[in-house]
Amino acid sequence: MPTPHQTPLLGSLALIAIVIGVGAAAFGYTAGWLSPRRLTPDKFVAAFAPPTGVTLGHRRNHAKGICFTGVFEANGAGSELSHAQVFARGQYPVLGRFNLGTADANAPDATVRVRGLGIRISTPDGQEWRSAMIDPPFFPVSTPQAFYELLRASGSKEPNALQAFAAAHPEFAKFGDWAKNAPWTGSYAEERFNSINSFVFVDGSGAERVVRWSLLPAAQPVALSPEELAKRGPDFLEQEIAQRVAGAPQRWTMVVTVADPGDPTADPSQPWPANRRTIEVGTLIAQQVQAEPDGPCRDINFDPTVLPSGMRTSDDPFPAARSAAYAKSYDLRTAEAKDYPRTATGPKP
Ligand code: HEM
Repeated sequence: MPTPHQTPLLGSLALIAIVIGVGAAAFGYTAGWLSPRRLTPDKFVAAFAPPTGVTLGHRRNHAKGICFTGVFEANGAGSELSHAQVFARGQYPVLGRFNLGTADANAPDATVRVRGLGIRISTPDGQEWRSAMIDPPFFPVSTPQAFYELLRASGSKEPNALQAFAAAHPEFAKFGDWAKNAPWTGSYAEERFNSINSFVFVDGSGAERVVRWSLLPAAQPVALSPEELAKRGPDFLEQEIAQRVAGAPQRWTMVVTVADPGDPTADPSQPWPANRRTIEVGTLIAQQVQAEPDGPCRDINFDPTVLPSGMRTSDDPFPAARSAAYAKSYDLRTAEAKDYPRTATGPKP
């Protein structure tokens, strides 16, 4: 029998045990221990690891890249779609990063099919629009789960893993055609970059429209085979863009495409019909290329869910999955102090 003095002590211990138990369960749930089949950011990020191992201190995907600063010149036309300040006529500062869709920061340029662009546009109202776009016109698969399975199949030692994946995901064939047949270029300045995911723009009256956006290069694309690109050197793209921007600012027109009712807004593997309404909303101007070590792009995560008021995520499930994975990658790379890109004289952790 507990004495009257023991009862409160036992009660407190039981309470502590309950609190710890609930905390552990919540932690376990978040980490995915209680549902081993659930797709967690940890699993997603681990699945990007190349057979040669991750490049410590670097992004776990799109690891190779080069930073730039510049401006977004809004022409005012976007205000019809969204009340975000970024569409009011004016110039807003941009931080951007051209990059390659590889987890290997030392991959030769000619071995990487997908090229990307991350941007952050800041406005005087203190808001930011972050976007990370790629050059294919659509995504290889329909859902984050299918993308995870694609990464697993690509990294599998099982010889038929990719064929089995392709058979189970018919939408993947379209991307295969693009990868095989779309022309390569020798410059980031000649690439068109696409949001791929859909978002919702909210106008001044509260009306909502589902949109995607693209950056169309002012520079004329010149087709170049990967073999020709390889001859120019493994890091040609970043050398070329640094030289090109030093010679003259490089420009892309931002075009917003508005979905019609019934368009597939939740599936980034499905492009919308070509006749959808488009609006040119402004120009991205890259003015100065910046190095990765100690540079302004090193410590940023171009999380696509960081949106100003006047924009929000849609029913497309990718941006949320991306946000969680980018945060995980950011946490890992910024903690890898020894390998974090910095010059000998740069700031220490
Ligand atoms: C669920 C699907 C996806 C996952 C799990 C994923 C994962 C990642 C990760 C882990 C990073 C590195 C983030 C960092 O450390 O800062 C990254 C970067 C990037 N991703 Fe994704 N991604 C996904 C889908 C997409 C899509 C749909 C696009 C394009 C529309 C895209 C474009 C990019 C670009 C351009 C970067 C580089 C941004 C930068 O320079 O920091 N990703 N991705």
